[in-house]
Amino acid sequence: MKVNQAEFVISAVGPGQYPQDALPEIALAGRSNVGKSSLINRMINRKNLARTSSQPGKTQTLNYYRINQDLYFVDLPGYGYAKVSKTKRAEWGKFIESYLLEREPLKLVMQLVDVRHAPSKDDQAMYEWLLHHGVPVIVVATKADKVPKTQLPKHLKVIRETLEMPKGQQPLLFSSELGLGKDELWALIMQHLDF
Ligand code: GTP
Ligand code: MG
Repeated sequence: MKVNQAEFVISAVGPGQYPQDALPEIALAGRSNVGKSSLINRMINRKNLARTSSQPGKTQTLNYYRINQDLYFVDLPGYGYAKVSKTKRAEWGKFIESYLLEREPLKLVMQLVDVRHAPSKDDQAMYEWLLHHGVPVIVVATKADKVPKTQLPKHLKVIRETLEMPKGQQPLLFSSELGLGKDELWALIMQHLDF
């Protein structure tokens, strides 16, 4: 996909602020710091349109980025950040849950996991929940540049097995640093949107 235009649209704190033009939405889920914002930037070849930070738990809103006049990337708040209070987490859960279940233009969730580590309990719960509710999901293994090439297959296997991914499914390897996986990910997105 050729990205001619990418623009930040809104940090939404509730459904009233979601765009109303019905363009398809691709949401990014994953733990804080896994590389969601970096992935968006790499997909659209912009250094810092989606704000990245070394401070985990920064993104607390649904951040909408419009790509051409074709689709939105929706950067979801990272989950599993220990310093967030229980009450906050429960609120977060409800907010995201209703977005994922009820948002009509949502076509696909990209669930990001760090290729270096086995998926956490939160990752497992999120993936299982998405499958259970029939939300289309692809797993993206980020930070591929941080693992030696020869070790990558082993790491992918751990991810596949820990998440108990259905037969024939496997994580897509990605590096925002190198641009690895970018074309494959765009191709998968296009498939899901019937473009
Ligand atoms: P929250 O907004 O807090 O949920 O985090 P996030 O998931 O958006 O992560 P973000 O993109 O801000 O990245 C977190 C840190 O990881 C930053 O320091 C990035 O530079 C780094 N990072 C992200 N992707 C990669 C990658 O593919 N390779 C390497 N080496 N570093 C990465
Ligand atoms: Mg972010």
